[in-house]
Amino acid sequence: MHPFVPTILVILDPCAAIAGQKWVAPKDVRACFTSFKVDPEIKANIVDVVNKTLAFHTSVNYELLAPEPFTADVHEDLLGDLARISKQQYPSDFDLHIDMSRTLKRLNDGHCVYINSCYDSLFLTFLPIPLVLLTDSNGAQAVHIAPEAFTVASAEFADELQVWQNALPGALKGQLSSLSGAKVLLINGADPFVAVDANALITGSFQPFGTRQNSFFSSYNRADTGWSYIMGNFAQLSLPLTDSATLTIQLANSVKTETITLPYRSRIGSTAVPWTDSTSFRENNCVAIDGTNGVDINAPDTSNAKRDTATLSTVSKFRQQPKISSADARKHALNVMLDVTPLQDISLPPALTPGGVVSGSLGVSEFHLLNDGKTGVLALGSFSEDDFDTFEQTLLTGLTNLKTMGATQLIVDVSNNGGGFICIAHWLHRILAGPKSTTVPQAGLDTETRAGPLARLITKTIVANPSLDPNDELLYNPIGFAFLNNTVFPATFDWLEPPVQKIINGRQDAFSPE
Ligand SMILES: *[C@@H]1O[C@H](CO)[C@@H](O)[C@H](O)[C@H]1NC(C)=O
Ligand SMILES: *[C@@H]1O[C@H](CO)[C@@H](O)[C@H](O)[C@H]1NC(C)=O
Repeated sequence: MHPFVPTILVILDPCAAIAGQKWVAPKDVRACFTSFKVDPEIKANIVDVVNKTLAFHTSVNYELLAPEPFTADVHEDLLGDLARISKQQYPSDFDLHIDMSRTLKRLNDGHCVYINSCYDSLFLTFLPIPLVLLTDSNGAQAVHIAPEAFTVASAEFADELQVWQNALPGALKGQLSSLSGAKVLLINGADPFVAVDANALITGSFQPFGTRQNSFFSSYNRADTGWSYIMGNFAQLSLPLTDSATLTIQLANSVKTETITLPYRSRIGSTAVPWTDSTSFRENNCVAIDGTNGVDINAPDTSNAKRDTATLSTVSKFRQQPKISSADARKHALNVMLDVTPLQDISLPPALTPGGVVSGSLGVSEFHLLNDGKTGVLALGSFSEDDFDTFEQTLLTGLTNLKTMGATQLIVDVSNNGGGFICIAHWLHRILAGPKSTTVPQAGLDTETRAGPLARLITKTIVANPSLDPNDELLYNPIGFAFLNNTVFPATFDWLEPPVQKIINGRQDAFSPE
């Protein structure tokens, strides 16, 4: 007699499997992400839109072969790669995303990136052991698990710590804190710098190789609300691409080496919109919504609330700056880095937070006087701040206070400063350098802009009909710019005509005459 075995066919929806959970395994997030096929129409649209925006970016033609000293590091043929991507087949939409993202990142230019909020940092994937480079008393530098690793992890990941505690082998089980400060001899069986350099190849953002190497390690930033801790690209991933890391380590104050494997764990991002299955995952997190492609902020029926939402749109999540007011965002030109990870609010442990704060410090600007009594420090975490005018005043007040206290020299610490208001940088330069022939009326603002086809069309349209931009909020409006003698361009001055043609790396390019 054959036993009757009932079969229940369960159709597993990989996005339902991770719905409503705070912490999941990276492979389960990947199962959801890779379950969507490439839609050829959307793919063609992505490539087309990216291609059409490229004429706004200097990096496209320059990064084909960057000049010295970056020649060896930066040589990305973006147009060639877009043509390749157009033809290439991908097993899933997620694989297409990875190729697009990394292709743009090879420009090593934090201003020109490709982000898809459907995937990038929808989950952040963590290890509780951020790494640092430490130098010993003999001057030898080595990779270590950060001495503050457990303090940071136990505060930030209290609800997931047990998973990592239990993953440790043998006598180390439950002793995650003992790893803090350990010297890292090998990562996945290889010299740690193999992993550091592999990350530098895909992290983008900066031309210098050394700066991209640094992004592997933990760091800090003076944020608007206090000092924040940056986990680094080893301990925090924007995509769930790695399941675990195996490290051979030497515990602090020990000669014994141990090999440990810790799983990466993916935590849902704060801006992810909840879903129940693949369909609602896609609908809630991946498709264009009202305002994605902009709104007409000057239309009479556009409410103030809608104007503000449009200005502080989806992209602002990835801007490396504190929240700014929507009015300032429209009024002042910004030059701010975009990264695939939003700014994090992991707290810097109190023991690492500098004391002796000089009065006048506010938000991203914190002033200190070193013990020598003559060296001032301005920790400037961003060139943006909620309120533009207050920010200018803060910089002036803090520097004046430092000077009154006896400071005769200044260190400006711009660690992990992602840029911000262009005019704040010029303001800082002006108040530091003082009035000179080189700073008055313009400090370093003698420049040209790119005159790509769309930029010229926009300028021509505004010049023909200035009432289209009643509040001078468009970047290309001539009245937002001035001649070197500080006379503002007339409203009818088409300042991109005639464009100055240049050949950059063998490619035709165009720049403004003024
Ligand atoms: C990008 O645009 C240029 C024209 O500006 C066109 O020649 C090229 O084929 C486009 N590339 C792709 C991949 O669509
Ligand atoms: C400033 O320069 C522009 C362009 O050269 C010129 O047209 C204008 O008259 C100058 N303004 C003053 C006040 O000198």
